[in-house]
Amino acid sequence: ANENTVLFTIFGGTGDLAKRKLYPSLFRLFKKGNLGTHFAVIGTARREWSDEYYRDIVRETIQDLNPTNEEAEDFSSHFYYQSHNVNDSEHYDTLKNLADKLDEQYNLNGNRLYYLAMAPQFFGTIVSHLKSQKIITDNGFNRLVIEKPFGSDYQSAYELNQQIRLAFPEQDIFRIDHYLGKEMIQNISAIRFANNIFESQWNNRYIDNVQITFAENLGVEDRGGYYEHSGALKDMVQNHILQVVSLLAMEPPVAFSEKEIRTEKVKALNAIRVYDEKEALNNFVRGQYGGGQLDNQTYIDYRHEENVSESSETETFVAGKFMIDNFRWSGVPFYVRTGKRLTEKGTRINIVFKQVPVNVFKPSIEGTCENSDLPPNVLTIYIQPTEGFSMTLNGKEVGQGFNTLPVKLDFRHSAETVSNSPEAYEKLILDALNGDGTNFSHWDEVAQSWHLVDVIRSSWDKTTPDFPNYAAGTMGPKAAFDLLERDGFQWIWEP
Ligand code: BG6
Repeated sequence: ANENTVLFTIFGGTGDLAKRKLYPSLFRLFKKGNLGTHFAVIGTARREWSDEYYRDIVRETIQDLNPTNEEAEDFSSHFYYQSHNVNDSEHYDTLKNLADKLDEQYNLNGNRLYYLAMAPQFFGTIVSHLKSQKIITDNGFNRLVIEKPFGSDYQSAYELNQQIRLAFPEQDIFRIDHYLGKEMIQNISAIRFANNIFESQWNNRYIDNVQITFAENLGVEDRGGYYEHSGALKDMVQNHILQVVSLLAMEPPVAFSEKEIRTEKVKALNAIRVYDEKEALNNFVRGQYGGGQLDNQTYIDYRHEENVSESSETETFVAGKFMIDNFRWSGVPFYVRTGKRLTEKGTRINIVFKQVPVNVFKPSIEGTCENSDLPPNVLTIYIQPTEGFSMTLNGKEVGQGFNTLPVKLDFRHSAETVSNSPEAYEKLILDALNGDGTNFSHWDEVAQSWHLVDVIRSSWDKTTPDFPNYAAGTMGPKAAFDLLERDGFQWIWEP
């Protein structure tokens, strides 16, 4: 592997994301040789920690990866802690001194990657200070990796973007959408563009509808404070789901490069119908979990979770229908749904194909056929927990007469392959080190996603929901099922 030369500065260095995702990912890159002797990490946060204590924590976070003592010591020796108040200019001067010192000590050539993994209200001020206090170097690369949420509506996202762009050009801004680092999300492009059998049918002549389900069995856990202000629409639809819609819907890119893919994704997003409020209410439904049973356990309702208001109107579930008004997709609904405390963790895409023009197997006068309706061909992409894809076809039932039977061609990566494949964050950090923004959200994608979501949000803000409206351990409120039924479809959900 190519060794990268870089100083990481992680804002939010004591936080959950840093501990759960970033440090283990950096360690994996270290083990593979993508990071070696020429890297250092500054972790910052408010609290006072010593380097020693910080390194202890870093070592704890990589325990699951079974490092030898020597590896853990060597890796963690590259970590430095700096307590930091993001609003205090003097603190940035201290940070700059430390950064310059480490740059010299580790021969880092001015290469810097700033990682914002903390409360979003500080993103703007941190970036402004990076520039005004001259932490950004003149030599080497300076890249900004920024966690979600990017704004809380179009206006705030726009303002944040303007502020950031004063310090970093678009090509150096890496807005994380960790779904874009997932193996099977990346595989969407392989399935589409490496298989003529699919790409030739990938349009409104052959596809009936597309279904995207991002189900979680977890509840809000300890994130009530954040989630109360976000809700499922902003937490999952504005970012992850719309990114997936754009990958499914885009035209084949001229080349598989960042620029070409981005161009096509933006075109696809721009073709999604922006509803007015009335249409939004008609095409999007929301839910909030009540108490319920799941796997022999009893779960409390959302309104009694920690840091959640007892009269909360925050949605923990969304289902909706997007329409894409272009030649390829006109008339094909893209149904999406996501929610917490559903029956299981399952992230899937179903491409539901149209029926054959005439069903010759309809019960005939001779009475040889019993099946009247052929089930549709469905291409399913399994994103997690299993990874792979399947295709359901219709075959003949063995024996006398002529009955058709659905058969499923099913491919899943082995558990071993899945557990050995790089984690999303590991891939995305390496992409950012390589300056490759393909698997990140660009500004025009973010902007259009907010336009689509803002209307839905504002229509909901003007109406009172009937919460709670689904029991923990179910697949969401009845309205989510009605949404498809009304169009003559059903959610497809098989093991
Ligand atoms: C995050 C959301 O972006 O994605 C969480 O904020 C959600 O609410 C998570 O649980 C799901 O990610 P994954 O990788 O576990 O499917």
